[in-house]
Amino acid sequence: MNKINKYFRENKIIPLDSFLDKILYDKDIGYYQNKNPFGKKGDFVTAPNISNLFGEMITIWFVSFWKKLNKPKKINFIEMGPGNGDLCLTFLKTLKNFPEVYNSTNIILYEKSKNLKKIQKNRILSKKVSWFQKLSKIKNGPVVFFGNEFLDALPIKQFKKINGTIFEKYVKIRKKNVNFFFKKSFKKEIRKLKNYRTIKNEGIIEYPEYGFKELEVVCNKIKKLNGGALFIDYGYINEHNIDTLQSVFKHKYNDIGKNIGKADITYLVNFNLYKEYFNMKNLKVDKIISQSEFLQKMGIRERFKILSNKLNDKEKSNLYTRIKRLLHPQMMGQKFKVIFIKNKKCNFNLELK
Ligand SMILES: C[S@@+](CC[C@H](N)C(=O)[O-])C[C@H]1O[C@@H](n2cnc3c(N)ncnc32)[C@H](O)[C@@H]1O
Repeated sequence: MNKINKYFRENKIIPLDSFLDKILYDKDIGYYQNKNPFGKKGDFVTAPNISNLFGEMITIWFVSFWKKLNKPKKINFIEMGPGNGDLCLTFLKTLKNFPEVYNSTNIILYEKSKNLKKIQKNRILSKKVSWFQKLSKIKNGPVVFFGNEFLDALPIKQFKKINGTIFEKYVKIRKKNVNFFFKKSFKKEIRKLKNYRTIKNEGIIEYPEYGFKELEVVCNKIKKLNGGALFIDYGYINEHNIDTLQSVFKHKYNDIGKNIGKADITYLVNFNLYKEYFNMKNLKVDKIISQSEFLQKMGIRERFKILSNKLNDKEKSNLYTRIKRLLHPQMMGQKFKVIFIKNKKCNFNLELK
């Protein structure tokens, strides 16, 4: 906490999203810069950590998309926020079963954390894979972007309307205590909120300014080079208007103001707001569906059956438990949603048609 206290000098106040950016990604004190948060020894597990079948289904989706794009001889698959590299490893292994696609595909990893990049580089040794600091450097298409739990890792702003005036959430750190409070919003911030029909001036408004900025280049590349993007995240479709910030530490919910720099902080992604954003960028957006629906459309149940025939009872039960975790409505199945964005001239959809 000392380093953090030093960082946020006494009385210094910053907006919530700048605070999240510092404590999650700062090169000295940032959570993702100092820790491997994935797995039993970390703080949480993600779908690629739970089962390889998740990555296999992403590969099936990619292969189908490649076909619909008329089997290009060169295509870029870009993973946004690859974490510990689990998905990329499964993707590479599975893609080898489709030699024509494998030979055509170039893989780019886009990672902000130096620490995680190091972990990825130690694990992913394929010459097919390169790390890009800036997505603007991608010159050739088509481009297919993929991100699992990427959007919910991008800092958000929070606003609240009180007696007709909009206030923004700020943070102050004083003597180890983290204080959140609302402060009258600047006009330029209010103007941004007014751009979106999805944003209703009720309750707490969560606004992903970092996310929108980050995705600008993704939208431009899809428009210019053809292709699309698939994002899977913990989030909602119907209006929420509540504070969804949450923190996890060692697999347990944690008070947002505690274990700063040691605990992850995320929130629920507002999928309709992102849909409106992508539409405004002149891209097509498919119907947002649940993770469960998506994985079943890609054939996860059939794959489970095939694999089960080769497994003993203990292994089968282990795999069943993992797949259940991904599909069950009260586990990840309904809580996680899938959004697919594509170039206007592309008519591929999540029905794989
Ligand atoms: C919650 S983790 C998900 C990791 C992985 N996709 C998975 O499902 O296991 C978020 C990932 O996004 C990365 N990340 C966050 N913000 C980023 C940004 N602006 N640019 C690139 N990577 C970012 C984090 O460092 C981390 O690798």
